[in-house]
Amino acid sequence: MLQFYIETVGCQMNVLDSELACSALLRSGMQQTDVSADADVILFNTCSVRQHAEDKVYSAIGRLKNWKEAKPYSVLGVLGCMAQKDQKLIFQRAPLVDFVLGPGQLDVLVETIEQLLNEKCFHLTIEDTENTQRTQRKKHNLVSPKKVIVSLPRAGNNHTDVLESFHLYNPDRLIPTTPPLSQEGNVPSPTLVRTMFGCNQFCSYCIVPFVRGPEQSRPPQDIVSEVQHLANQGVKKITLIGQTVNSYRHENVQLADLLYQLSDIAGVEQIDFVTNYPLSMTDDLLQVVRDLPKVLKHFHVPAQSGSDAVLKRMNRHYTATQYREMTDRIYGTIPGATMTSDFIVGFCGETDEDFEQTVELVKYCRFRNSFIFKYSERPGTKAAELYADDVPEGVKKYRNNRLLEVQIAISRG
Ligand code: 5AD
Ligand code: SF4
Repeated sequence: MLQFYIETVGCQMNVLDSELACSALLRSGMQQTDVSADADVILFNTCSVRQHAEDKVYSAIGRLKNWKEAKPYSVLGVLGCMAQKDQKLIFQRAPLVDFVLGPGQLDVLVETIEQLLNEKCFHLTIEDTENTQRTQRKKHNLVSPKKVIVSLPRAGNNHTDVLESFHLYNPDRLIPTTPPLSQEGNVPSPTLVRTMFGCNQFCSYCIVPFVRGPEQSRPPQDIVSEVQHLANQGVKKITLIGQTVNSYRHENVQLADLLYQLSDIAGVEQIDFVTNYPLSMTDDLLQVVRDLPKVLKHFHVPAQSGSDAVLKRMNRHYTATQYREMTDRIYGTIPGATMTSDFIVGFCGETDEDFEQTVELVKYCRFRNSFIFKYSERPGTKAAELYADDVPEGVKKYRNNRLLEVQIAISRG
C-alpha cells in the first residue's frame, strides 16, 4: 500500500487543510506514515506569513535528496500559501518538487497525486523491462512531469473569476482516533470547523488576502450540518475558524446567530472562535457569548500595535483608543472574559515611542497571552511597496523580548 507523509506549518487554516487532505488520501486507499523516509508521497503544507516559515520548508525539502533518489517514482508536493504565492518559482529553488497546489485547489489533490504516480510508474514499468543497468540510470534521470495547480491572482482578474477559482472544499471528515494534542499540553485540541475562506482586509504587511483569496462566508446550514455530523461521531469541542471570524456574514446570518444555532446541537459541549477583527466585535456578539453557556468566554483579537501612526500604516482602520474601548466592552459585558492578542514589532518606521505605546496597550488590556512577531517584509504587499523595512534586526529582537517580558509578567498575574 502506498504511504504518505505530511508536514504542516502555519495557522489553524493550514492545520484544517492538512486534516482534510489526510482524510481524502486515506479514503483513496493510501496509508499515513510518521516516518518521511518510508513515504511514497511527501507533502508540505506551507505558510507565507513570514520569511522564516518559507526558509524552513526549503531546508526540509533540501534534506529529501536521498529519499528521492531511493524512490524515483515518489511524489513530492508543496501545498498551501507558498504554493499559491510562488508557483513555478518553487521548482527553481527546490527542483525535487513535483507539484505545487494552492489552498483553493485542495479538491483536486488526490487526483493530482494519483496522476503523477501513474505517469511515473508508467515510465518505470517500461524501463524495468530493459536491462537493469539502464533502469538504474533512467530512474535517476527521471524527469518528473511538474504540475502547478493554483487559483487566479487577485490583481488583474475579474472578481467573480477569482472568487470561483478559490474552490470551497468541505468534504466529510474521518475523525482521527487520536485527535491532535493542543500546544499547551496533553488536552486534545477541539475540532476545527471553517466558517470563512480568504480575507478582504488587506492589512498592509499581510500576504494572506493574496494567497487565500477573497473573503467568502460559508452558508450557515452547511456549517450546522457539518457540526451535527461531527457531533454524531462524538466530537464535543469545536473551534470555528476564519481569518476575521467575527465578520462572518452570510445573507442575514451573522456569527452571533450562528453561535445560537450551533449551541442547540446535542453533543456539542464547547464552542470557541478565532481570529477576531477588532472593529467587528459587536455588542450583539458579546451578549450572545455571555448568554450561551457552551461558548468559551475568550477572545483572540490581534491588536498588532498600540501606536496610531503604525496602525494607520498597517491599514488596520482603528486607533489604539478604539481597541481599548473594545477591550472595555468585552470585560464590561462578560465577567471573567479573557483575551489574547497578536503583535508585530519593528514594523516599517516604528519608533521607540511607537513601541512604548504598544507596551502600554498590552499593560492596559491585561491579555492572557500575546503572540509577538518581528516584522517580516512580504513582497507583493502594500507595506513592501510603500515603506522601507527600516527597523534594524537587533532592535526588532530587543522589542520582541521586551514585549514578551511585559506579557509574561501579566500572564503570571
Ligand atoms: N510579518 C510579521 N508578522 C506578520 N503577521 C502577519 N503578517 C506578518 C508579517 N509580514 C502576524 C500578525 C498576524 C499573525 C497571524 O501573523 O500578527 O495576526
Ligand atoms: Fe492578514 Fe489582516 Fe486579513 Fe488578518 S485581517 S489575514 S492580518 S490581512
